[in-house]
Amino acid sequence: MLTLPLCVMVGRPFAWAALVLPLLPCGGTDAYDAYFQNGARSPPRTMVLVLPADAGGNATLEPAEGVERRAWVGLRVDWYEHPATVASFADRVVVSAGRYGGVGDADASVARQFVFLDAIHLRPCAEAFPATAPAAEARFRDDARNVSLPIRVLAVSPAVAVVEDFVSTAECEAMVSLAAAGGARARTDAEGGLSHAGSPFRRRRGVLFPWARGDALPAALLARASALAAVFGIAAPASAAQEPVNLIEYGEKDAYEPHCDSDCLRDGPVGPGARVATVLVYCAAPDLGGATVFPDRGGGRALKIAPAANAALVFSYETGARGALHAGCAVRRGTKRVLSIFLRTAFDGDDTRASVDVDGLAAPPRGPRGSE
Ligand SMILES: *[C@@H]1O[C@H](CO)[C@@H](O)[C@H](O)[C@H]1NC(C)=O
Ligand SMILES: *[C@@H]1O[C@H](CO)[C@@H](O)[C@H](O)[C@H]1NC(C)=O
Repeated sequence: MLTLPLCVMVGRPFAWAALVLPLLPCGGTDAYDAYFQNGARSPPRTMVLVLPADAGGNATLEPAEGVERRAWVGLRVDWYEHPATVASFADRVVVSAGRYGGVGDADASVARQFVFLDAIHLRPCAEAFPATAPAAEARFRDDARNVSLPIRVLAVSPAVAVVEDFVSTAECEAMVSLAAAGGARARTDAEGGLSHAGSPFRRRRGVLFPWARGDALPAALLARASALAAVFGIAAPASAAQEPVNLIEYGEKDAYEPHCDSDCLRDGPVGPGARVATVLVYCAAPDLGGATVFPDRGGGRALKIAPAANAALVFSYETGARGALHAGCAVRRGTKRVLSIFLRTAFDGDDTRASVDVDGLAAPPRGPRGSE
């Protein structure tokens, strides 16, 4: 790499070099000057920008402070709360555009890639923010397995609840085998492994695999999820019309930004086959980070669920969908593996996804969308 000694390490102050040197930029032929800014606002606080040496290296930035660096498509930009430790990792952005955004940049969607924003890094994701204590207890009777399990109810309306031992380790292993047998593998960056299709701000990584509907185990888990939802009065029959079960893996620094599994603004199902609840099964829990959070339950309240292996999180959004806005916090150490099971109301057809969108409106599916 003979380019390195001559590369322009810091941006504008040395831009004149381009006039007198054959410019050999760092990190690839399309590197360019970039501006990185600490946009943390709630509250404004010191952040640490972590970049590789050939981009110009780390910088500790006071609120609103920015710094010149080099960037290129594919550069991983990490932000930590100050001081930077494994537990204070906050956010990763992968540069996906060949230009930079600065203060006052007219194109905010581009500028965002270089400005640390609280909207992406959530305060409840901080390790110091405690997991939410249960507000009530209920029971889940699983007739198929002849067991009765306690439910920790974190919120009643819309419901958010956790059941330990919803699945066995063997069931999770079997799901991973099924996914592997079906050809599932970690997606590459180019395939959207780090930047979910159409949005540079969703960074769930790895296996996202809907397997054949005929498999017995996914069908059994769907039936179990349907029975769990029924405890909360949610009618979502375990029919073949339901969506396939997905297996998703998060490696270190992977996260999923705040999103709804339905239209965030809806307040009641708008048609047959609308999604009304999600059951998220934690097959593997990370060593640190990776909590599921509901950052905006109204009145400044947030919910936080620390993943525990074999537990399931169920949440409903038949009404008050905005309260089911949720996010997967960055995994700080280890791997998180989840099964996401979306539950839809009764639908007179073979396949909801082919016929209606997540709100039950007769329209082509709007593309990948969903829980973690
Ligand atoms: C930049 O910060 C990261 C994360 O704290 C650290 O691992 C790395 O060693 C730092 N780089 C330098 C050159 O100090
Ligand atoms: C279900 O479990 C209970 C107690 O654990 C047991 O008494 C009962 O026989 C079981 N029923 C069946 C059908 O296995």
